[in-house]
This record gives sequence, structure tokens and C-alpha cells, in this order.
Amino acid sequence: MTRILMVCLGNICRSPLAHGILESKLPNDRYYVDSAGTANYHVGSSPDSRSIKVASNQGIDISAQRARQFKVQDFDTFDHIYVMDQSNYSDVIRLARSNDDIAKVKLILEEDQSIIDKRVPDPYYGDSSDFELVFNLLDSACNAITKRLS
Ligand code: 4NP
Repeated sequence: MTRILMVCLGNICRSPLAHGILESKLPNDRYYVDSAGTANYHVGSSPDSRSIKVASNQGIDISAQRARQFKVQDFDTFDHIYVMDQSNYSDVIRLARSNDDIAKVKLILEEDQSIIDKRVPDPYYGDSSDFELVFNLLDSACNAITKRLS
């Protein structure tokens, strides 16, 4: 089983989308996908309604997900840890205990050569068009991840 963790700040907007999109592309008997936030603001919450909607428009149901905070044991559980932006990267790396831990962490858009700006913009204070942009970036990155893993 290959285990992949998607990480953003709140675990209610970006990483739940990345989680749902990648899960929809990989066979679930061989891949386990999860998501977490570096902050604890929204622990136990459902994804943001705008993320639920943009996913559902593409046939992906993320409504059963619940936010949790990233924890140091996630370095042991997961093979790949994908973060959305540089700030998430710094927050996760701060908890790393070894070079092996550090090597697991990557900006998700680094997987997609066709995307120049490697930051998945935080859509929390934006509108539905910002959520659509995030969905499209993550969908493209998840296609690249799927290709690389299989
Ligand atoms: P996310 O978006 O990191 O993509 O889940 C955010 C959600 C909540 C907050 C910031 C970003 N917040 O400040 O509460």
C-alpha cells in the first residue's frame, strides 16, 4: 500500500480537494490518500462548502471528510506528503526529525512540469472562481502524480 497525504493550512479548502481528486484517480486497494492541516483552527469540520461544490460539479464527493491537524507521526505513516504552498512546506519541515522525513515533503505543483507558479493559492477569502482555479491546478497535478505512481 502506498500512502499519500495532502496538507494545507486549514484542511478545509485545498487539501480536501487534493485528497478527493487523487483518491478518485487511484485504485483504493493499493493507494491510501488522506489530508491534514498545519493549523488546528478547523479540526473536526467538514470541508468548506465551496470546495464541496466545485468537487461535486466534477462528480467527486468530499463531504464526508473531516479536518484534522498534521502530526509528527504522519512522517511514519505516509510515503509522500504534498503541501500546497511554501508556508505549508516550512510548517511541515519544522516538525521533521530526519532527512528521510524531509525527503517525503514536496510542493504538489512540483509534480506538474506544465505549471510555472508552484503555489496553490489559498482560496479561503476568494470566490467560486478561486475554487475553480484551485480545482483545475490540483486536477492537473493529480494526473501527473497518478502517471508517476503507476
Ligand atoms: P485551506 O484554506 O488552508 O486551503 O484549508 C484556509 C482555510 C481556513 C483558513 C485559512 C486558509 N483560516 O484562516 O481559517
